[in-house]
Amino acid sequence: MEVPFARPYLRGDEGAAVAEVIASGWVSQGPRVRDFEAAFAGRVGALDAVATTNCTSALQLALHVSGVGPGDEVIVPSLSFIATANAVWQNGATPVFADVDPRTYNLDPAAAERAITGRTKAIMPVHQLGLPADMDPFLELADRHGVRIVEDAACAIGARYKGRPIGSLGPPACFSLHPRKVITTGEGGMIAVNDHAVAERLRRLRQHAMDVSDLARHGARDVVIERYPERGWNLRMTDMQGALGLCQLEVLDEVLAERARQAARYSAAIGALPHLEPPYEPQYAQRTWQSYAIRLLPGAPVGRTELMRRLMADGIATRRGVMAIHEEQAYADTVADLPHTEAATRESLMLPLFPGLSDEQQDYVIDRLATHATALAA
Ligand SMILES: Cc1ncc(COP(=O)(O)O)c(C=O)c1O
Repeated sequence: MEVPFARPYLRGDEGAAVAEVIASGWVSQGPRVRDFEAAFAGRVGALDAVATTNCTSALQLALHVSGVGPGDEVIVPSLSFIATANAVWQNGATPVFADVDPRTYNLDPAAAERAITGRTKAIMPVHQLGLPADMDPFLELADRHGVRIVEDAACAIGARYKGRPIGSLGPPACFSLHPRKVITTGEGGMIAVNDHAVAERLRRLRQHAMDVSDLARHGARDVVIERYPERGWNLRMTDMQGALGLCQLEVLDEVLAERARQAARYSAAIGALPHLEPPYEPQYAQRTWQSYAIRLLPGAPVGRTELMRRLMADGIATRRGVMAIHEEQAYADTVADLPHTEAATRESLMLPLFPGLSDEQQDYVIDRLATHATALAA
């Protein structure tokens, strides 16, 4: 049996919505992006939301409006996709890596506090794989040390922290709409914002800081001469993507429920297997299960990569767990003492989980894992 690793969930009506945009003649950023932003903000309980080209550019903009620039430091987990650190670097600032909590794999607030220096401008917790970071200690830290918070919520649309949706907690929260995420626009990003002035500035910055949008100019009754009060970027989403995003928001609850159902099936089975540990589930969070990562416990007779190889021979696609950015050559110049991060990246792997994965396929994955784990135990 072949079991793919991931697939986006597309219902089939998206083509008509995109075709309608094309027929309208307005294909760049316009009314559909505006509607998608409003619907997204409503869904995540934010005052406003600003669309961009991807989550990396969303993080870059959110850091910029938080005052991060050359010479500043931003504290981030190394246990994250490299985009987390690259967004800091793209602002001319330095990512400073702090260790994660060994159970949640999210940035540890105590480790982040120890990494604060006189140059720290912001802390960027990541809601890794859709599991919210423990945000209250970070918000308290930010107040106490006068630093800003930006949330890397790439995988966290629909997640909740103590009952409150990620996006509504106060700081700017940046989401990804890449096809590996819970919902997709092909490529795309969104910044949930809880301050109207910041949202307006973000809207300008994503189009070279021009002080009037194409949509506003189109509707104007008089000639508009635009101005550029500061420097900006071109990070616009297209209206085709906006239309797709509106369709995807309609299926979000269905997708989240199916992901949670599959995760529960995995956890029930994997909890009983030797050498393997299902993901830890903290009480404070409702996660998206954007990915399902298991841990190969220390002492297992084969390593994580060998287990992945055996599953691949069975026709099952897996991925390594979250990377450790400081172990990559791109960040080889960073000094970091991150034992929990290094253990987490070495010991974890991700299993297939997506709407469309059949129970039969999932049972096969569980069966093969059980066979390999038992062989490991023998
Ligand atoms: C934690 C995290 N941050 C940022 C990103 C970047 O997202 P995008 O591909 O939309 O730029 C990703 C994507 O995988 C991610 O997992």
